[in-house]
Amino acid sequence: VKLHGGEAYEMGRFRTVAERLKNYSMRMAVAGGLNQPVTAFLAALALSVIITIAMVQAQANQTTVGGFTGFVMAMLLLISPLKHLTDINQPLTRGITAAEMIFRLIDEPIEPQDGGKMLGRARGELAFEQVGFRYGEASRAALEGIELRVSPGEVVALVGPSGSGKTTLVNLVPRFFDPTGGRILLDGTPLTELSLKDLRNQIAFVSQDVVLFNDTVAANVAYGAQSDREIDMARVERALAAAYLTETVKGLPEGLNTNIGDNGMKLSGGQRQRLAIARALYKNAPILILDEATSALDSESERQVQAALEELMKGRTTLVIAHRLSTIENADRIAVLDHGRVAEQGTHAQLLAANGLYAGLHRIQFATQQG
Ligand SMILES: Nc1ncnc2c1ncn2[C@@H]1O[C@H](COP(=O)(O)OP(=O)(O)OP(=O)(O)O)[C@@H](O)[C@H]1O
Ligand SMILES: [Mg+2]
Repeated sequence: VKLHGGEAYEMGRFRTVAERLKNYSMRMAVAGGLNQPVTAFLAALALSVIITIAMVQAQANQTTVGGFTGFVMAMLLLISPLKHLTDINQPLTRGITAAEMIFRLIDEPIEPQDGGKMLGRARGELAFEQVGFRYGEASRAALEGIELRVSPGEVVALVGPSGSGKTTLVNLVPRFFDPTGGRILLDGTPLTELSLKDLRNQIAFVSQDVVLFNDTVAANVAYGAQSDREIDMARVERALAAAYLTETVKGLPEGLNTNIGDNGMKLSGGQRQRLAIARALYKNAPILILDEATSALDSESERQVQAALEELMKGRTTLVIAHRLSTIENADRIAVLDHGRVAEQGTHAQLLAANGLYAGLHRIQFATQQG
């Protein structure tokens, strides 16, 4: 905000909201304030009508003085509870509105847990069959007719221009979204037939936007494991070492037990990314998904973390996304995505020889690096 000189704009926005809030509060106060005089007035009116009738009856000797006084006293006693009755209206209305909002949230459908099939530890064979995906009301499909087979232990790199659908494709594997066309199979079983919990247990994921929790370093690395078993500190340390974080953690005031703040605020961008990688290392799952996992690192630590990741990829099915092509040259296969389709796939050498999209991307990056 400061950099763009947006103080006045933000202040204006805040003022508009505050003004609106003030108006609502005023209206509420006015309505609440009117409540009492109006009821008091109506009560007085009713009382006077009844007294008039009673007086007429008294004059006609139809009622005694005692009866009249008793009646009026009972009437007067009624006024106070009547007033309290009107006090209920305001909190009641407010409560109903709040309840409506809460119930809207409660009524959201639960994520379907689906088939109860358990895999134990998956071999890690992934198959995308004519997978298509469209976000909500988007006019264009984000993915279309994706055919991709990944054998157990194979490392497949996804490359392609920004917005070509790489992140969307990998998000389908842990079922953050379900494909709107086609299907995905793990070890020959459609994902929808697997228990969701079991499926997600098979996947370690380093996302493009690092997500960390306002908790200690150790709890972040072993995230999710706490519920099942105690945190294995030795394993946490091994994961941190592999992600080249040991030194960093040593420098923190309370080491492994240092709280890292909201989304790891107290760490640098590269340190946060390495912490996310350490979490994936800790999980030790048969499928590994890396979405721009080393993009925030300097060349030196990228090289080191890359070595750790390559070690980790051994024996695991890996989907790796990278813009920096040098990091994925050694992948078993490279699939090039373009506008939601697999434009070409093959090894680094094959794709260079084919002289298509990949060769073009590679030429541009190579030229920039040389320059
Ligand atoms: N939550 C969303 N809602 C609607 N459209 C989305 C959403 N997320 C992504 N898209 C659209 O889907 C397309 C693919 O996005 P995606 O994030 O998969 O690209 P990407 O290949 O990962 O790009 P990048 O290399 O920049 O990360 C884009 O055109 C984007 O506008
Ligand atoms: Mg992306």
